[in-house]
Amino acid sequence: MTFQRILPVWALSLLLLGSCTKEAPLEKEELTESREEAAAEKQLAVGKSIYETNCAGCHDSDVAGAPTPGDKSDWKNRIPQGVTILAKKAIEGYDGKKGMMPPKGGNDVLTDEEVTSAVKYMISRTK
Ligand code: HEC
Repeated sequence: MTFQRILPVWALSLLLLGSCTKEAPLEKEELTESREEAAAEKQLAVGKSIYETNCAGCHDSDVAGAPTPGDKSDWKNRIPQGVTILAKKAIEGYDGKKGMMPPKGGNDVLTDEEVTSAVKYMISRTK
């Protein structure tokens, strides 16, 4: 008769176990998602200030052919390259059809991450 007494306990604990393993990863996912969102927002804010002090001089007024954020027609062939390539070109500089993009916009003290965040900000304003 012990079997009959143990079975419900055993079934209940299985149920409890089941609901635990189902909920735990969900909560974790939600947490990382909001953390990632916050990090992305912070990076955009950093990118904005980097852009305004180091890139806007050329990019806000089309100096030497610098593409203005928001100018969809000038960005439509640039954005498909993806952030990684766009950032690499902004970091290393390049000679384009329209003009010369100096490495890091001419400000060597900027880190690669700072330049990348400025590029992400420019893209976010154009999309
Ligand atoms: C001295 C002027 C100047 C400054 C400062 C400058 N740029 Fe540029 N940038 C250019 C020009 C000109 C082009 C366009 C070249 C072309 O496509 O012919 C360009 C193009 C770009 C592109 C597009 C690349 C592509 O493949 O189409 C990105 C991204 C970019 N710049 C990012 C930046 C960032 C980020 C900064 C600030 C850290 C910055 N630029 C500062 C002149 C400048």
